Amino acid sequence: MKKLVVLTGAGMSAESGIRTFRDADGLWEEYPVEQVATPEGYAANPQLVLDFYNQRRRQLLEVKPNRGHEILAELEQYFQVTILTQNVDNLHERAGSSQVIHLHGELTKVTSSRDPNDPACIRELKPEEYEVKIGDLAADGSQLRPYIVWFGEPVPMISMAARYAQEADIFLIIGTSMNVYPAAGLLRYVPFQVPVYLIDPKEVPIGSGRPVQFLRKGASAGMEELKKMWVGSL
Ligand code: OAD
Repeated sequence: MKKLVVLTGAGMSAESGIRTFRDADGLWEEYPVEQVATPEGYAANPQLVLDFYNQRRRQLLEVKPNRGHEILAELEQYFQVTILTQNVDNLHERAGSSQVIHLHGELTKVTSSRDPNDPACIRELKPEEYEVKIGDLAADGSQLRPYIVWFGEPVPMISMAARYAQEADIFLIIGTSMNVYPAAGLLRYVPFQVPVYLIDPKEVPIGSGRPVQFLRKGASAGMEELKKMWVGSL
């Protein structure tokens, strides 16, 4: 089976009702990124940051995967699919995708404030625990914090993601403005002869001069088209 490697961003989940970050009504307009998505913001006002992610977690219970997520899961019948996602929601998993690498962490998990990447402290929350409070402690006794990679923090999954990008037979990008590194740099690991597709209703500047097949559509319509093209010809 050919290896299909998919890099997804906030636009992947937009049709499920989750707001993107940098579009006109994006999350970062309402919540300044330096307040809710940096270690400095967390140190300055942990309550605000916990509340922000509690709200995002609550929303997970109200949304469901869209047709785009579902088609990516269906494609596992035809390809070895690896999803490299910048999203912290769990919609790829809920749609049935079996190999999902979260570059920026996961909303459903929490960790230690002292050492966020200590595996002994990372744990999955049950839905009834989605409301994390000041005073809730990690295994090392520090305050529980969201298992989210904030700006300025290392991205531990990036080297594994880069290896998948290097091995891809087909590379597909969906719903990311390609603004945030190192995730946006993954395209540069994809060998030049490998076909690259990009689904986004807006123009996304790619640079690097490599040929990219743009599908200027939303995630669901774009995936319907690609599935027809790929599976129709198998
Ligand atoms: P952005 O909000 O920067 O970009 C979202 C992209 O999705 C844009 O290019 C939109 O045009 C596109 N889009 C909107 N609706 C769409 C639809 N229905 N179908 C397909 N695409 C659509 O989000 P990201 O690039 O994911 O990090 O942002 C990257 C990172 O920045 C996030 O992971 C997050 C954020 O700060 C952290 O929180 C650490």
